[in-house]
Amino acid sequence: MPSLLIIKMRRYVIAGNWKMNQTPTETRSFIKTLAPLVKGKDNCDIVLCVPFVDIWVAAEEAAGSNIHIGGQNVHFEEKGAFTGEISANMLRDVNAEYVIIGHSERRQYFGETDETVNKRLKTALAHGLKVILCVGEMLDARQAGITEEIVSMQVKLDLAGVSADELKNVIIAYEPVWAIGTGLTATPEQADETCGTIRAVIAKLYGKAAADEIIIQYGGSMNDKNAADLLAKENIDGGLIGGASLKPDAFTAIVSAAQ
Ligand code: 13P
Repeated sequence: MPSLLIIKMRRYVIAGNWKMNQTPTETRSFIKTLAPLVKGKDNCDIVLCVPFVDIWVAAEEAAGSNIHIGGQNVHFEEKGAFTGEISANMLRDVNAEYVIIGHSERRQYFGETDETVNKRLKTALAHGLKVILCVGEMLDARQAGITEEIVSMQVKLDLAGVSADELKNVIIAYEPVWAIGTGLTATPEQADETCGTIRAVIAKLYGKAAADEIIIQYGGSMNDKNAADLLAKENIDGGLIGGASLKPDAFTAIVSAAQ
């Protein structure tokens, strides 16, 4: 029997989330190293979401390459007395194209809720940023068998009020919290199943065409060893990569696995 060949209509998006790592100086030399390694690997979109102070340098170094740059959060107000926050205009002005919103570390350590995630997401879209929206369950939720309910609720609340047209600029990253930075990866089957759940929620909210189009990434200890198996799954259209995105060779191997 010939093995089943899954032909993906969606384009892979491989994104690094550097979290609070790398100075502007380190960023410059990292991108000088990475750009030639990923040159010509055009079957996926490559994104690096870097700390705010690195964005300008990263965008400057990545100009003319196939690497796209993003931030890791954005505030929902246009401007004003919000010490420590960054506006969408500011991100655009330093040439960020993407922004991560709702990462579990923001939710866990900085008190972000589905309500603030939704507000940030709508502001980012209104300013022409492409959003990587993160959702995912904690370990106790997975053990209690309520992953589907938790993730579905997050998707619905986080996308409330987002039009079908705006959704075209949203990528959803499924990141089980128990798999982040722990070395515990969801199995390809677990990851595919929950990405499939997310796609079904999108179908309910926006229709089948939108569900077929939306890019859904997996994130959580994705690395050069496990990427190919995860990316081969029908519902997994890319990765949001933490630790391995800080190593040019490992990140390039993940990009190659998405070709
Ligand atoms: P790790 O790849 O380090 O587990 O991080 C995943 C993540 O949180 C990406 O946003």
